[in-house]
Order: sequence, then C-alpha cells, then structure tokens
Amino acid sequence: MKKVSFAEFGGPDVLQLIDAEEPHAGPGQIRIAVRAAGVNPVDWRVREGQMLKAHPITLPAGVGLDASGVVDEVGEGVEDVKAGDHVFGEGSSTYAEYAVLSAWARMPEGLTFEEAAGYPSVVETALRIIREVGVRPGQTLLVSGASGGVGSAVLQIARDRGITVIGTAGVANQDYLRNLGALATTYGEGWVERVRQLGHVDAALDLAGSGVIRELVELTGDPRKVISIADLGAPEFGVRFSGAAGSVPAALAEAVGLIERGRLHIPVERSYTLAEAAKAHIDSQAGHARGRRVVVA
Ligand SMILES: NC(=O)c1ccc[n+]([C@@H]2O[C@H](COP(=O)([O-])OP(=O)(O)OC[C@H]3O[C@@H](n4cnc5c(N)ncnc54)[C@H](OP(=O)(O)O)[C@@H]3O)[C@@H](O)[C@H]2O)c1
Repeated sequence: MKKVSFAEFGGPDVLQLIDAEEPHAGPGQIRIAVRAAGVNPVDWRVREGQMLKAHPITLPAGVGLDASGVVDEVGEGVEDVKAGDHVFGEGSSTYAEYAVLSAWARMPEGLTFEEAAGYPSVVETALRIIREVGVRPGQTLLVSGASGGVGSAVLQIARDRGITVIGTAGVANQDYLRNLGALATTYGEGWVERVRQLGHVDAALDLAGSGVIRELVELTGDPRKVISIADLGAPEFGVRFSGAAGSVPAALAEAVGLIERGRLHIPVERSYTLAEAAKAHIDSQAGHARGRRVVVA
C-alpha cells in the first residue's frame, strides 16, 4: 500500500510517499481503508521531532492521527462495528491507504469522508478545554485564535451550551467567526481594548500560542480562568497548559450528537492527495486556517 513516511526529523521535504506493508488490527483495534486523514499541527510537530516526550517514535515513521474510512478488519474484542461500516477516529500513520484506529465512532449521516477526517482530535481538544476552563452557560469565553480547527469546534460547542464567545482571528476570518455565532475581532495591535469593548470576559482559551497569556490573565482577572494548548510558557503566569488528551470515544459520541442536530460543522479548507502531504504541512505551518485541511487516500 501507499503510505506517507519520514526517515529523519526535519522540514516538509523529509516526507516521502512509499510502498509499505499493510498494518493489521490488534486486539481492541480496527483497520480502515482510509478515505481521508485530518492534517493537525501535531503532525508536523512530530515530523520536526518536537514531540518526542509526548509521542516517542522510532524512525522511519508514518504520519497522521485522525482519519475516516471503511472498516475492513476488526480486532479481537471489538463488537460495535463490522467490515463495511463508515467510521472516523484516531489511530496512527493515517496518511496512508490503510491505517489502524484505536478509537472510533460510526460517521453520522450526511458527513463526507473528507469532512469526517477533520473532527477527531479537534473535538476531543475542544471539549476538554471547555471543561477544564470551567466556563458556564450565560458567561463569556474569549478564544484567541478562533478560526482554526480547534477554534471552529470550541465556538460551536460553546454556542450550543449558551456560552457567549468573543473570538480573535485574522481580517479574512471575521465573518467566518460571526457565522459561527461569535463576537469577532482581529488580533494584533490594540486587540485587548477591542475585546474589552465587546464585553466582560469570564474565561479565556489561548489556541494560537501567540504570546498573549499575560493579557488573557488581565482580561479574566484570574489565571485559573485561562487555559493554553499552544504556549508552553503559560505556567509562568500561573496558567494551565492542557496537553493530555481525554477520552476520544466519548468526544466522538458527543460530536456525533452535535453534528446530527446541525450544531457542529467543521469545514474542509482544502484537500490534498497523499503525494501532496508536504504541501499540506507547509500550509498548516503557515498558521492560518479556516476549519481543517485533509489528505485524501
Ligand atoms: N495541547 C493540546 O492538546 C493541543 C491539541 C490540539 C492542538 N494544539 C495546538 O493548538 C494550536 C491550534 O491548533 P489548530 O488545530 O486549531 O490550528 P490551526 O487550525 O492551524 O489554526 C491556527 C489558528 O491560529 C490563528 N492565528 C494565527 N496567528 C494568530 C495570532 N497572532 N493571534 C491569534 N490567532 C492567530 C489563525 O487565525 P487566522 O487564520 O484567522 O490568522 C488560525 O485560526 C496548534 O499550535 C496546535 O499544535 C494543542
């Protein structure tokens, strides 16, 4: 089968499309014929060797955590899906024609494979940080870096729970944030004052890692009401860095409910072929997004 792989840590050019042995589902796992794999920033962080503590790997290694596809092997003990089912979930080396998943759910009606591949890590992260920051219905949540994959999910889940959101994004994404129900403003010079004019902030999430933790603490008045997923320096300000993933099956189950009720939709910004994986990483690393990019197998 075809698979995207890298034999040394480095830039996008270390990615190669190779012929590889097909993987097989172990106990508690499934194998899918991959239709699409989500492109997450963690994919290029792993490729660069930034994530060795959290994701120890041996080289050569495959790329990708999220995927959607058709079940074609069911491991021992798996009873909730069968060959032929359409699923989305998390596994390893998902930029490939076949991949093994360790967490999955059946795809909701009406979602394409490309759309489905963009959800798993994003919804797990969004649900986790909304819970950890402790924001309640009726309160206002500030989201710094709100238009990317995680931001798109946070905005819609918060709206569904009756939480008001103020989101920051680039000029091109202001209407996108408003369409997801948020009050929108741009980041950059003067952003703190623009946020103050939009309302009082009860809690804040830093999704961009753009060096704004001090300001988020000022705006909320309490470091315990701020969480970052992108700034490893956050603890210097008494702010939690959230890095340990929670339950992916529980997150997918909740996401399926939201998708079926028409309350959650993460758009596909662009699709790439497996051979274009390096281009997908270059675009993701540029740091500007509207929803999720995917690689189609
Ligand atoms: N710790 C964890 O568990 C965890 C989990 C998932 C992701 N992450 C990390 O969280 C980050 C976000 O992930 P993602 O998948 O949502 O990324 P993404 O889809 O690439 O989105 C990046 C976002 O950052 C915004 N942005 C760029 N520069 C900004 C600035 N100076 N101020 C505010 N926003 C800015 C972009 O907005 P515009 O396009 O409008 O400029 C875009 O919306 C990544 O660094 C990722 O590695 C961590």
